[in-house]
Amino acid sequence: MADQQPWHHSAVIYEVYLRSFADGNGDGVGDLAGLQARLPYLRDLGVDALWITPWYVSPMADGGYDVADYRDIDPLFGTLAEAEALIAAAHAVGLKIIIDLVPNHCSDQHPWFTAAVAAGPGSAERGRFWFRPGRGEAGELPPNDWQSMFGGPAWTRVTEPDGREGDWYLHLYAREQPDLNWDNQEVRAEFESILRFWLDRGIDGFRIDVADFLVKDPALPDVADLPADARKPWEDQDGLHAIYRRWREIIDSYPGERLFVGEMWLKPLIRLRPYLTGDQLHTAFNFDYLGTAWDAGQLRAGIDLALASIGAAAPWVLSNHDVTRHLTRYGRSDTSGGWHPDPGRPDLALGTRRARAAILLSLALPGSAYVYQGEELGLWEVEDIPVDLIADPVYERTGHLVRGRDGCRVPLPWDTDTAGFGFGPDGAAPPWLPQPAGWRQLAASAQDGDGESVLELYRAALRLRGLRAGLDDDSMTWQDAGDGVLAFGRPGGLLCVVNISAAAVELPPHDAVLLSSAALADGRLPVDAAAWLQRG
Ligand code: NOJ
Repeated sequence: MADQQPWHHSAVIYEVYLRSFADGNGDGVGDLAGLQARLPYLRDLGVDALWITPWYVSPMADGGYDVADYRDIDPLFGTLAEAEALIAAAHAVGLKIIIDLVPNHCSDQHPWFTAAVAAGPGSAERGRFWFRPGRGEAGELPPNDWQSMFGGPAWTRVTEPDGREGDWYLHLYAREQPDLNWDNQEVRAEFESILRFWLDRGIDGFRIDVADFLVKDPALPDVADLPADARKPWEDQDGLHAIYRRWREIIDSYPGERLFVGEMWLKPLIRLRPYLTGDQLHTAFNFDYLGTAWDAGQLRAGIDLALASIGAAAPWVLSNHDVTRHLTRYGRSDTSGGWHPDPGRPDLALGTRRARAAILLSLALPGSAYVYQGEELGLWEVEDIPVDLIADPVYERTGHLVRGRDGCRVPLPWDTDTAGFGFGPDGAAPPWLPQPAGWRQLAASAQDGDGESVLELYRAALRLRGLRAGLDDDSMTWQDAGDGVLAFGRPGGLLCVVNISAAAVELPPHDAVLLSSAALADGRLPVDAAAWLQRG
């Protein structure tokens, strides 16, 4: 059985948040040239694949998650020819490429949307979106009570071609991101064609943005009228499964083992299961894991629940471009994670110790795992970005109540000595968000070859993980190692021990220490540390 698993079953996939990864052309924004130049770094890190956040033509109202042309690259990032060259270059060094697909909404600058506004009420063009008359005497109130995920109403009113205030359109995110109507056959056909466009160019899979939101209850009921625990009328609707079955047929018709990974924040995790039955999505992120506090009992319960309900189809994920970096979360008193940062002041040294342990835990678990760019450098959340530089639409849409997600999107530090820490070439414009001075010692060049660094810990862990047999066998066996200690064995003799208790603990019997996230004192594992052992 074991050798029949597809590559993505146990892959480690690195998220490239493109505009903050590396700037090749010197304009202060990350791009394809910068990414291509850093492919050797990613190969040497030891990951299997890259997930690249949206690279399409976009006005960047939401960092590229507002797509105006799904078949071309935004000039800020490069050209289609550069994307094709990048895919080839990545493949040449053994890295697969997953791209972001954004099917729930497009940009208000997409030709379909501008045509819909121009065509007026009742037109076929408007049928591709959710246009509705308003409520109130003169249609001055939104059609229902749905709120945008970014704050404020999920509806915006348009001015009709005759100059009057007219219908409203639905946008579950920013007003620049109109929701597409997936009951419309043209929308379905268009996305099937987009899938093929990129599959034909050799990409190895898609990360599906808000994969659970595409289909809406066409009655568009007010949420206030529904029981609090009812399924929201825009999420997890039955009609989604037919869409993903069709997509799976398409992706399966291509050679190689290509991948769909769904972004779905559904709770509890078992709600992902109907999408992961083998004929729809291959995997969906395990966001429960990301949200779990640094607590042995909660982590063990969450791991057990995930494996029991989804098996290895929900990859382990600690951070991404939408949440507070886990190093910072783990340095707070409330270590649980999520969408909006909590203002508590973090203890970054504590957070770093825990983040080092957490990656050993994640990489020892069955299935695949995601690494978010910069976590391998031990980067923290930047929580003091000057407000006039904040770019996340969440800040405006919440009336400046929530700073948003820019703090985890600050451009990476590559070198210690250059301006912008080598984010761009010599003489480049400053990075689009300012980097903290303290990141100098976290630059990749400063950590390279330093055995104590976070970067070398990631490299060593990924190297060991890559060498070990048994990754395709999903079994794991918990061992009793005392309160606050997680210990489990994996096929091939790997034993992972994580100490979240109040004191250093004895290591279980073993032949050899393969790797530890902190120095072992007298053969004992310090608090907030993890070790990989060869079983005795
Ligand atoms: C999820 C993406 O990860 C996030 O960055 C984006 O703002 C929303 N979807 C809307 O596309």
